[in-house]
Amino acid sequence: MSRTHHPADSARMPLVEALLQYERRKPASFHVPGHKRGAAYRNDPQVASWLGAVGLYDATELPGLDDLHDPQGAIAEAERLAADAFGSKRTFFLVGGSTVGNLAMIGAVCRSGDYVLMQRNAHKSAIHALMLSQAGAVFLPPEQDRESGLYTSPSPELIDVQLSKFPGTKAVFITNPNYFGMSADLRKIAEVVHKHGKPLLVDEAHGAHFGLDPLLPESALQCGADAVVQSTHKMLPAMTMGAMLHVGSDRVDERILKRLLGMLQSSSPSYPIMASLDYARAAAAQNRGNEQGAGPFREGLDAAHYFRERLRCRAGRFRILERAPDAGYTSLDPLKIAVYDAEARLTGYQLLTMLHEQGCDAEMADERHALLIFGMNSTRSDAEHLLDALQRIGSMNLSEKQEIRLKMTNILPLWSAASTQPVFFDADGVRKPAHLEGDPVAVEIERAVGLLSAEMVVPYPPGIPLLFPGERISSETASALARYRSDGAAVQGISDKSLRSILVWAGNDI
Ligand SMILES: Cc1ncc(COP(=O)(O)O)c(C=O)c1O
Repeated sequence: MSRTHHPADSARMPLVEALLQYERRKPASFHVPGHKRGAAYRNDPQVASWLGAVGLYDATELPGLDDLHDPQGAIAEAERLAADAFGSKRTFFLVGGSTVGNLAMIGAVCRSGDYVLMQRNAHKSAIHALMLSQAGAVFLPPEQDRESGLYTSPSPELIDVQLSKFPGTKAVFITNPNYFGMSADLRKIAEVVHKHGKPLLVDEAHGAHFGLDPLLPESALQCGADAVVQSTHKMLPAMTMGAMLHVGSDRVDERILKRLLGMLQSSSPSYPIMASLDYARAAAAQNRGNEQGAGPFREGLDAAHYFRERLRCRAGRFRILERAPDAGYTSLDPLKIAVYDAEARLTGYQLLTMLHEQGCDAEMADERHALLIFGMNSTRSDAEHLLDALQRIGSMNLSEKQEIRLKMTNILPLWSAASTQPVFFDADGVRKPAHLEGDPVAVEIERAVGLLSAEMVVPYPPGIPLLFPGERISSETASALARYRSDGAAVQGISDKSLRSILVWAGNDI
């Protein structure tokens, strides 16, 4: 397949065009899907205008519409244009989010019994990938930002040491940026990993927009990553579940990736999602940002900047997480804004709820921050809306002053030590010794310290397991769970929704 490098090509949207052509023909449908080009929705006024409209384009592998699993036409061309735009050797469209990309990326380098180096604060899909591949990980503790308490990636120095200790590792898996938009020195990490002759896999779920404007951080591919997963639906305008897997070099076998994606992705992938990937690539990459100040992100960047400046000027209770010059990370995404109450009267969770009541939905919260995400299409008027909402919240009479328990100066890191040997997984979690076989038992969280969790406990968002099945419960994780309980945080995977007890594999230990 020959590459299309002409700049005018970046404006093209081959899959969008193919679907428009298909719709223009208005063919009679004698095939799936059963809504028959949206006809099923059009008599119901509740859904006619939206499901009815999308239904017109929710097609299947018809002539001219190509096949995601064996692309040779419009999808192949759309993927090729994405590879050109993002700078990959090959790009795969994903219809199951970065989740499916992580499953494939880790599966492609690990057979059963193999292991990778992985930062402990990886998304649950990375742990699930180890479980499905029956593979292992040497978990590395991330760096922790002193100012905010937020975790980033392991340092290049630690990665270097661990690669020397574990020369059998198949790859290094890093999440960059973190949910809050903090990036590590990925160039240095790539250098270290390549010095040891290993591939660098990057979960760039939150950085699909990176590298597309000089005001945005560099992308993982620009830094030298060998395979990269991006949630195009998060920071670029693709529909939910739309994501991409980019292959950066020959260190990762794209044929294995293709085979795995053929197993993991639906045999009926959604055309609206795929078309939105084609659209998002064209919208973000054509006329990309330049030093002269043009580009598709400039309005959103301006809105975020405007919000920051106005909030600073007011010098009220609400502050923005800023990157300190000596911060343990290299850049902060200007489109991510973490707001917190400098008087420590509201937790991030409470702030998120109050913003919701004021008509502004934030992305997520932790104990201290509410995270607000700006995008390509955010405007100054959105920023005004948010400023007004914060002003109203700031002037409310809160019944009682409460201290946020989490003082940034004395947070205990959840993860402080690297595993001393690879931790191997099977479908249940960490492979457990025979004496722990049998049914798990429920134990009060405060009494569970030192025991092995039998559950994947995942505060969501951000979707990073606090505990995975088979992991030993530390006093730090137990107290984090107690804090989640008192804050009313959403926690997936734990069977006791009141967060009072946890299932453990105790065998004869209790
Ligand atoms: C770091 C990280 N990786 C992967 C994912 C999964 O992405 P998706 O929701 O696109 O499947 C998420 C989702 O929030 C994430 O935060």
